[in-house]
Amino acid sequence: MEKNVENRDQWGSRLGFILAAVGSAVGLGNIWRFPYMVYENGGGAFLLPYFFAVLTAGIPMLVLEMGLGHKMRGSAPLAFRKIKEKYETLGWWAVLVTAVVTVYYSVIVAWAVNYMVFAVKQSWGADPNAFFFKDYLGATGFWDFGSIKTNVLLGLAVVWGITYVILYNGIKEGIEKASKIFMPLLIVLLGVMVVRGVTLPGAIEGLNHFLEPDFSVLKDYNVWVSAYGQVFFTLSLGFGIMIAYSSYLPKKSDVVNNAFITAFANCGFSFLSGFAVFGILGYMAQAQGVPINEVASGGIGLAFIVFPKAINLLPGMNSFFGILFFMSLVVAGLSSIISLVEAFTSSIMDKFKMTRKKAVTVVSLGGFLCTIVFATGLGISILDLVDHFLNNYGLAVVGLAECIILGYLWKLTTVKEHVNQVSDFKVGNWWDISIKYITSIVLGYMLIMKVKTELT
Ligand code: PHE
Ligand code: NA
Repeated sequence: MEKNVENRDQWGSRLGFILAAVGSAVGLGNIWRFPYMVYENGGGAFLLPYFFAVLTAGIPMLVLEMGLGHKMRGSAPLAFRKIKEKYETLGWWAVLVTAVVTVYYSVIVAWAVNYMVFAVKQSWGADPNAFFFKDYLGATGFWDFGSIKTNVLLGLAVVWGITYVILYNGIKEGIEKASKIFMPLLIVLLGVMVVRGVTLPGAIEGLNHFLEPDFSVLKDYNVWVSAYGQVFFTLSLGFGIMIAYSSYLPKKSDVVNNAFITAFANCGFSFLSGFAVFGILGYMAQAQGVPINEVASGGIGLAFIVFPKAINLLPGMNSFFGILFFMSLVVAGLSSIISLVEAFTSSIMDKFKMTRKKAVTVVSLGGFLCTIVFATGLGISILDLVDHFLNNYGLAVVGLAECIILGYLWKLTTVKEHVNQVSDFKVGNWWDISIKYITSIVLGYMLIMKVKTELT
């Protein structure tokens, strides 16, 4: 049966919505991006710009996206269309960005699925670097196409299969139920890793390097810009995701409070990850007799090269902690993928009046087929391009356009009145100021600088 706007799917409970929103927010960015970013940008001192960015951009934009989705009861393209027909394009840009991130995310989670299995016997051997590039990806060089790798293909099938099943079952029976399993599981996984991490010999050294504040970085505006960039990414802002998720909220929902809870829960996960990651890196540095900066890293290198090495070095239960680590990447990543694919799916459902089952089938099959190209050695080179596009233009463009359209071209007060009407917790003038002045200026500056460095 086709669903019209009146009987749009709905979350079964407030907790379900929050867990799903947190599931989207908590992802690879928390586990492999945040800790390294803190370490590189002045340690504990970085928390200052970070929290400033959370309060002046993260939470205000979350309230904005959640408020818009809730008020308009539609995914990004429909929500923007309801403001003015021509703004629909912006929604589709967000959907496009979503598609790009999905490709990126699903490949990495597929790798993590494979590595979870490799962890059982530490199949990566004594040289995880050579293993990753040569044995696993089958590439001899950066632009080597290699061959289609069965393992990666299987990993992708797992990722898309799970996503398909969850989304097929809809908001309440699918996403909400899955989030109620994924999020508690993730807390447990990370909790165990934190305890293991901080109790290893050398861990204190690692944590010192992670958090020791260097306040001189605060003079550097690039540090502030990095903080804003991380906050946007980590809260899944500028993708239309929070718009789509909130379009399924019941009429009476405390949007403002939900936004605060989502933001703080996400920060909590980031800190937990930081303690786990740097505890283990500290141990690794000590075990190898090298300084921390030789092992500290983030991203693909941390997850698929440094961590396998660290897992080899653990004093016992290596397989157990190896599986745990990759499982946490898989769980955090999958719940983000689900939100990405849902944002995409709900957009085409809204636009073409498609049923969920049909839309989900088309999108998942298409997504799976598109990502197969990454099962080759070329994958890593394309990922690099994707990462570049994404970090430089994707979310900044959408975020800035959101601020300008809602802040200047349309009445921001419409959203404000709406959220303040449905929420017990109300936003004040700081909200308008954050969106109209702080967030727009920072994003505008970010974009100009990116284009400038691109041209030189
Ligand atoms: N918020 C996710 C993270 O921190 C990234 C993400 C962005 C996921 C947008 C989904 C959509 O890893
Ligand atoms: Na996040």
